[in-house]
Amino acid sequence: MAKELVIDPEEIFVGNEKFVKFIKDEEIQKRIAEMGMEIAREYRSKFPIFIGVLNGSFMFLADLLKNVPIKCEIDFFKLSSYGDEKISSGKVKLIKELNADITDRHVIVVEDIVDTGLSIKFIKEMMNEMNPASLKIASLLLKPGSLKHNVKIDYIGFEIPDKFVLGYGLDYAQKFRNLKSIYKLEE
Ligand code: IMP
Repeated sequence: MAKELVIDPEEIFVGNEKFVKFIKDEEIQKRIAEMGMEIAREYRSKFPIFIGVLNGSFMFLADLLKNVPIKCEIDFFKLSSYGDEKISSGKVKLIKELNADITDRHVIVVEDIVDTGLSIKFIKEMMNEMNPASLKIASLLLKPGSLKHNVKIDYIGFEIPDKFVLGYGLDYAQKFRNLKSIYKLEE
């Protein structure tokens, strides 16, 4: 018999590994509403462009921008850094280019999680070469204990311990991005 389908389960099993619910759907939405209003206040007269880093940020960007009631544009690009594993490969590659021209634009990059900071460092260098009017970073999650690069994150949803997490856009081997809550690997 097939297992019953459960939306927003309490725990997830991946082989022998157990992931437990860590940041609930409602907590995520509450924090995103606060971030959205803060960003809206700062950018209301600036016609900013939000740039999502695929694939992980798709859910955060969608929910965040529902809470930013100002005139803005949205674009995406794609990086590859983790492959299909839980440990960073230490390399970043651009695998889908940005379409928008960000010269003289107010840019907010939207990330799912900052771990070592390597991706954000790469993104900042790449974007600064395109001469934006301003560049800020919003990340739903930050692991301060893992940071290896000196990068400033301007808007942070939650600071979390240095543990692998999945759900709400974040994957484990490309799966589990569609979970509403965020799950943490159990010790
Ligand atoms: P960084 O370049 O080391 O900061 O890693 C950033 C990228 O690694 C994120 O955009 C995610 O795609 C991925 N990543 C880092 N930590 C996790 C995690 O705990 N779960 C899922 N993906 C992660």
